[in-house]
Amino acid sequence: MSFRPPKGTDDILPPDSRMWRRVLRAFDDLAERYGYDLIVYPVFDSTDVFERGVGEGTDVVQKEMYTFQDRGGRSITLRPEATASVVRAYLASGSQIPMKLAYAGPMFRYERPQAGRRRQFWQVGVEYLGEDSPAADVEVIELGYRFYETIGLTGLEVQLNTLGDPASRAAHREALVSFLTSIEDDLSSDSRGRIATNPLRVFDSKEDRHKLSGAPMPFNYLSTESADHYAHVKRGLDRAGVPYVENPLLVRGLDYYTRTVFEYVATDLDVAQNAVGGGGRYDQLAEVLGGRHVPAVGFSLGIDRIVLALGDEAEPVPALDAFVVVADEVRRDLAIGLVRELRAGSLRVDMEPTPRSVKAQFKAADRRRAHSAIVVGDEWEAGEVTIRNLATGGEARVSLEAGAIISHIQSGSERA
Ligand code: HAM
Repeated sequence: MSFRPPKGTDDILPPDSRMWRRVLRAFDDLAERYGYDLIVYPVFDSTDVFERGVGEGTDVVQKEMYTFQDRGGRSITLRPEATASVVRAYLASGSQIPMKLAYAGPMFRYERPQAGRRRQFWQVGVEYLGEDSPAADVEVIELGYRFYETIGLTGLEVQLNTLGDPASRAAHREALVSFLTSIEDDLSSDSRGRIATNPLRVFDSKEDRHKLSGAPMPFNYLSTESADHYAHVKRGLDRAGVPYVENPLLVRGLDYYTRTVFEYVATDLDVAQNAVGGGGRYDQLAEVLGGRHVPAVGFSLGIDRIVLALGDEAEPVPALDAFVVVADEVRRDLAIGLVRELRAGSLRVDMEPTPRSVKAQFKAADRRRAHSAIVVGDEWEAGEVTIRNLATGGEARVSLEAGAIISHIQSGSERA
């Protein structure tokens, strides 16, 4: 039996997984700070959620879904993305809107695997449901931008565009179809096939993009209201200090978008995989799924690509506040009890699980990057432990009561 994971998937272990943990934590913290509650929902859903929600004509639905029949004869699909299921879950809950939701987890797309393009990949994201105001678009785009800032991703570019409302989209689509039909003979067969199903996607074709200089663009068809909404989004981003580049060719690959669309691009990565996140407004999605009108905006960020863009530098072993050293084996149980109490007091503490020499235990403390060693030895009889600062070698005797040890370590006095 091979121990390798299936094609296009990865096992992520330390040291690589440390970066994942740092990035996932940073997102969770930031999303909570912006008022986004957690949503947990199934990794698989009814196939029609994605067929209807993401769109029959999209590459995701046509070529990339992991779809199977379960033993009850239902057509099930492993989620290729989050937004359609989040809206379905909201509709099922009958909850009040506005509702601000955040999520993290694996998504599945049957793609040609390469670096940054995986068959199982992780996304974190937010969906702001029930809010029409451009302030919501600005908040969402800014949140993503601050996240990349927080994790230290450099060379990030925010690309922005608007697709207009359904009426402007329909007018643009009609004009685009007739333009594309007029140059049909020059187009690749892929693009020709898309004229009827998903003409906007022809803008994504590397082969044909340069033939589209005369093509009608979404911004030529904006209603006054859509243009106004977009102007407010841009003004809000300016005020928030979020730099962006307008990209009139940005159309995104999923059908549910209306008005604002955006992508976060890591300019240091290879062009084929340099979109580290994307999102936009999807005011019609709830209705497409059979629910009521729920204007909404959100994004999803690709963790695999983000980790790739952050580079190879391995995160160090997570530092410990203290390592407990058993100087005298008769006190092992007391030391174990002390470790338990210190952990309950929120210190990061560990010890060797089996008897080792004091020297070996100090070595282990160094390996684990402990700030201090707490020596449990004869001084226990006097109600004390010795705390050694492992950076300076300075030692102090401290009352063995957990509170005293914690405040000693937290005050840094043993680090002096
Ligand atoms: P998406 O652009 O399809 O949008 O995916 C978002 C991000 O997921 C991409 O920018 C990329 O970083 C990552 N990603 C996508 N496919 C792969 C893959 N095969 N391997 C590695 N990473 C990948 C959505 O999924 C929408 N749900 C975004 C959204 C949320 N729109 C509104 N709300």
